[in-house]
Amino acid sequence: MKTVHVQTEKAYDVLIGSGLMEQAGECLSRVAAPCRAAIITDDTVDALFGEKVQLSLQNAGFSVCRMHFEQGEKNKNLQTYAQIMTFLAEREITRSDIIVALGGGVVGDTAGFAAATYLRGIRFIQMPTTLLAMVDSSVGGKTAIDLDCGKNLCGAFWQPSLVVCDTDALHTLPEKIYKDGLAESFKHGVLRDEKLFELLENTDARMNINEIVARNVQIKAEYVAQDEHDTGLRQQLNLGHTLGHALEKLSNYAITHGQAVAIGMVYAARIAQKLQLCDAAVPERIAAALRSAGLPTQAAFSAQEIARVALGDKKRRGNTLRMVLPEEIGRCRMQDVPVDALQEVIALGVEA
Ligand SMILES: NC(=O)c1ccc[n+]([C@@H]2O[C@H](COP(=O)([O-])OP(=O)(O)OC[C@H]3O[C@@H](n4cnc5c(N)ncnc54)[C@H](O)[C@@H]3O)[C@@H](O)[C@H]2O)c1
Ligand SMILES: [Zn+2]
Repeated sequence: MKTVHVQTEKAYDVLIGSGLMEQAGECLSRVAAPCRAAIITDDTVDALFGEKVQLSLQNAGFSVCRMHFEQGEKNKNLQTYAQIMTFLAEREITRSDIIVALGGGVVGDTAGFAAATYLRGIRFIQMPTTLLAMVDSSVGGKTAIDLDCGKNLCGAFWQPSLVVCDTDALHTLPEKIYKDGLAESFKHGVLRDEKLFELLENTDARMNINEIVARNVQIKAEYVAQDEHDTGLRQQLNLGHTLGHALEKLSNYAITHGQAVAIGMVYAARIAQKLQLCDAAVPERIAAALRSAGLPTQAAFSAQEIARVALGDKKRRGNTLRMVLPEEIGRCRMQDVPVDALQEVIALGVEA
C-alpha cells in the first residue's frame, strides 16, 4: 500500500493499493473510533461494492447505515442532496459520526457537500471507485452539486479525513470512463512530472496502476497544499480545461470531459509552441501519447465557435481569459489572453 500525505489546514492521508475495500474497516479505524458510519453511494457502485464495504466496516466495530441514489451527473443535484440530508437526519447521525462517500466523482462531490453542511459539517472519508475520482476529485476538498443553470454552482471547501483508493475497483470500470481518468493523469504529467508522463506514454497504465495513482495524488496534493482555496497556483490544474469545457458544451457533451481535456491540452501545447514558449516536440509528443492511449486530439469545431463558448465560461476574469500553457513536459505557466485576441490565439491551437 502507498500513502500520500495531504498537508492542508486539516491534514489527511490518501491510501492507495489493491484490496483496500475489504479493509475499509481497518482503514477507517485510523481516523475514527467506532461510531456510526453512513455510506453514501450510487446504485451502480452499491451493487458492485456496497455490501463488501459495509461488512468490513461492521467487522471493525462501526455501526453502518447505507443509502444510494441513481448514478449519473444528472443526479448531482439539489434533490439528491435533500434526499441525503433527510437520510442522515432520520438515522440520527450526529457530529461524532462519519460519512463514507463510496463511488466516482459524482458521489464524492455530492456526499462531500452533504458532509460539509449536515449539522454545519461532519467528518467524511472518500472511497473513490473511478480513475478520475482517484487521481483528481477525491483529493483537494472541493465539494459541490450542480444547479439547473450550471455545474458545481452550490458547494463548499471541505477536506476529507481520509481517502482510500482501492485500485481493484477499476477492474469493473467501463473503458470510456477509465480513459476519462487517464486524460487527467496525462494532465498531471504535463504539468509537473515527466516521469509520470513517460509511464503513461510507454506502458499500459493498468500494469503500474498503483504507482500511477500515487504519483497523480502526490501532484494534486502539492497544488492543494500550496493553494487550498484555489485562488492562485491551483488554477494550473485547469490545463486543457479552458478550451476543453468549451468543446464539451459545443458537442452537447457527446465529447466526454476527459476527451475534451485531451484535445484542450493538445491545443494549449500548439498555442504555446506558436507563441515560442515551447518547442515543436512538446505538442507532438503530447498528441502522440494521448492518441496511443485511445484519446482524441482534435475536434471539428472552429476557433470562432470555441472562442464564443469559452468567453461565456466562468474562468473569464475581466478582459482576459487565463490559459495554462506547457513550456516543457513537466512544466507549465499561466498566461492571461486578452479577450480581443482570444479567437486568434485559439486558432493557433486548432490548426495543426
Ligand atoms: N471535486 C473535484 O475536485 C472534482 C474534480 C474533477 C471532477 N469532479 C466531478 O467529478 C464528476 C465526474 O466523476 P466521474 O467521472 O467519476 O463520474 P461518475 O461518478 O458519474 O462515475 C461514472 C460512472 O461510473 C460508474 N462507476 C463508478 N465506479 C465504478 C466502478 N468501479 N465500476 C463500474 N462502474 C463504476 C458510476 O456509477 C457512473 O455511472 C463530475 O461531476 C465532476 O464535476 C470533481
Ligand atoms: Zn477535469
